[in-house]
Amino acid sequence: MTEIIDGEAVASEIRDGVAECVDTLDEAGVQPGLATVLMSDDDASKTYVSMKQQDCEEVGIAAHDIEIDPDAPAAELYDTVDELNAEDAINGILVQMPVPDHVDDREVLRRTRPAKDVDGFHPENVGRLVAGDARFKPCTPHGIQKLLEAYDIETEGADAVVVGRSDIVGKPMANLLIQKAPFGNATTTVCHSRTQDLAAKLGDADIVVAAVGVPEFIDGSMLKEGATVIDVGVNHVETDEGDSELVGDVDFESAREVAGAITPVPGGVGPMTRAMLLYNTVKAASQQHD
Ligand code: GUN
Repeated sequence: MTEIIDGEAVASEIRDGVAECVDTLDEAGVQPGLATVLMSDDDASKTYVSMKQQDCEEVGIAAHDIEIDPDAPAAELYDTVDELNAEDAINGILVQMPVPDHVDDREVLRRTRPAKDVDGFHPENVGRLVAGDARFKPCTPHGIQKLLEAYDIETEGADAVVVGRSDIVGKPMANLLIQKAPFGNATTTVCHSRTQDLAAKLGDADIVVAAVGVPEFIDGSMLKEGATVIDVGVNHVETDEGDSELVGDVDFESAREVAGAITPVPGGVGPMTRAMLLYNTVKAASQQHD
């Protein structure tokens, strides 16, 4: 029987834990604050940011919403980050990516104070993750680790294949899977658009993390019987009837016939990414008031 991994349920438990930490901080006179910075007209980015703000409010984190005209000079964003770095009420800073082409996204990441970098994208934090001494684990891979933990999916000695090599998901996911316990010690292969014979690599995998951004790129015929399949894809596709439908990077119907456990889209990884941002924000607030 294939287990459908309920990301919403696990995320709800994480949010409860975060809310308890918020209460403890409140007793010490501290309210955690997250600044979200949006410099984009993209509807999906706007939606993501407003969901993040709503999540904050639900657990008692103060959400500071900053919007910058996408046509403004890059310096406006850089200056905003500098100001937020210096602001005591702001414990976490999230600049929604992608930023416009005239902005150097690496400069944005470098400028963000590492202690407030709740995405875990600053080079210092990337280095610490790779060294096995993470300050903030990036939200999506961290959320996936929590899902594997919640469902008792053994990574120790497992063969894992990560499909996708992005800085946000693929690379940090692979780093977490190869780290020593807890929830590491997997023999991990990273596949990408230039990988030859992906099916052969997937066919041996006990754990598959699909993060390529291509709708239903992986189907059941490529998977090993009983594999755990984690689908990070968020793809809007047009149906035959002309409606928009949300699908993952995995063809859910064929994959569920083969997999031992699988995340749905929506309701799998997405809620976990959002919950781990709250977790990192509260962690940032605690560390800054230590
Ligand atoms: N854009 C897509 N995913 C993310 C994310 O996790 N963090 C930020 N800052 N921007 C994103």
